[in-house]
Amino acid sequence: MWNIRMRASKKGKRQKAEDTKQDFHNTAGAQTDSEIHISGAEGIYSESEIPAALLNYTKRALAHTRGRPDKIVLTIEALGQKPLSLRSLPVATVKCISPSEAKQYITDLLQESGISSSAAKTALDLLKRKNTLRGAALVLAASGKRVEPDALRGVRVSRLGITSHAASALLKKMAGRRIDTQRITEALILATKVSSCKQVAAEICISDNPDYTTGYFASRRFGYVRIPHIKRAGSSRGGRVFFLKDDADVGAAVHYLEKTPVLISKTDKYLGELSLYELFDHYHK
Ligand code: COA
Ligand code: AMP
Repeated sequence: MWNIRMRASKKGKRQKAEDTKQDFHNTAGAQTDSEIHISGAEGIYSESEIPAALLNYTKRALAHTRGRPDKIVLTIEALGQKPLSLRSLPVATVKCISPSEAKQYITDLLQESGISSSAAKTALDLLKRKNTLRGAALVLAASGKRVEPDALRGVRVSRLGITSHAASALLKKMAGRRIDTQRITEALILATKVSSCKQVAAEICISDNPDYTTGYFASRRFGYVRIPHIKRAGSSRGGRVFFLKDDADVGAAVHYLEKTPVLISKTDKYLGELSLYELFDHYHK
């Protein structure tokens, strides 16, 4: 099996200026620290699926709402090991009409998941910040301490995918619900991998895309909980936080999240739209 990863970016103002200077002096090596990330995606494929997957990723990279890239990097890497086979988390949408209601729901979900109020505060403060990390922050569930090795970069979950059979099963379950199934499928794959890491207690995500205002909370106990109106339209604030158990081996967790290949091969239910209290009732049954 192969892991294909795509990332698309464009030069920021500083890099453009550097390039001009370098052309003038004819020196080698461009600065990359002001590249603006536009989009990224990945999957796990058999050899025969590689050409079609490359075409799809290229088309996606060229047609993102965040703008046109001037660089697209496609990586095709043989997996050194058989991917772990996982069932995706069950999905639900909570009825939520405003960011303030969303904040209350997140607080309730975190509390029900045994996350301390100081850890919740660390996470909520982080998700409000202007400068988002390039990956997820790791926050200890009891102390609220941040433990990701690089606090500006965060941890980027990778080496993940879904079989075409499981992808079409998910599409069928969510059909006709007026929801962005491609986006949910990709976030669900990531959240399922994260929740399969024994050291992770829960995850919160708010997209930094100004057009996308549905965030999610995810955990093994409550599944993947979509939260509409988690932020105001037009805001580019967002981010991801993974809550780790306080006795977690952080290095092992990071290695699992970044490098261990996982493939979603089975899917769980879509519970539809319900109130937070109905969701709690459902999982207490
Ligand atoms: N935001 C900002 N910069 C990013 C980025 C992101 N989300 N992803 C990659 N980059 C940039 C960074 O500059 C990064 O350097 P860094 O490691 O110092 O941060 C550089 O690109 C290289 O990233 P890397 O992860 O090594 O590239 P890759 O080609 O191996 O993989 C992705 C790129 C985007 C496919 C992978 O990181 C990823 O996020 N995979 C999961 C995608 C997915 O399913 N997302 C669903 C989310 S809803
Ligand atoms: P997105 O849903 O793509 O808008 O991403 C929301 C936030 O999640 C970003 O601002 C990053 O902080 C973080 N992020 C993006 N990609 C990953 C990843 N592969 N793993 C963990 N966090 C990520």
